[in-house]
Amino acid sequence: MKALVIHGPNLNLLGKREPDIYGATTLDDVNAMLAREAAEIGVELKTFQSNSEGELVTAIQQASGWADVLIINPGAYTHTSVALRDAIAGIGIPTIEVHLSNVYAREEFRHRSYIAPVAVGQITGFGAEGYRLALHAAKKVAAP
Ligand code: DQA
Repeated sequence: MKALVIHGPNLNLLGKREPDIYGATTLDDVNAMLAREAAEIGVELKTFQSNSEGELVTAIQQASGWADVLIINPGAYTHTSVALRDAIAGIGIPTIEVHLSNVYAREEFRHRSYIAPVAVGQITGFGAEGYRLALHAAKKVAAP
């Protein structure tokens, strides 16, 4: 089983960025944890981060033909991007949406996700643990 994990804008700042909300874990820590976990449960993993909406669309399109499952934290584009939503709908790969913070306990503009309707499910509010949960969920979602 092959999983692509995509991190959206500002997630490269994890560890420094609003640590009271997003925690002290860096993106490298998250990716290293995912690599360990993936090896343990037999998942082939690739990770990608970009701050650019267009690059994220391209990465989603390129997942087609390689990934069995897409795990994505679209960051702020969650709440704005029809382009990311259309890319996910277009490739038809089961997609799991992850957020470190509980977006529903925050500002109202974070309550709307353009991605949720085209995702299999959403994991929100568990910090970096959410990515680990998503990886395990990915195994189930990808199973025939
Ligand atoms: C986030 C939540 C978004 O609202 C925010 O714009 C982010 C991070 C999260 O992981 O909690 O950049 O996706």
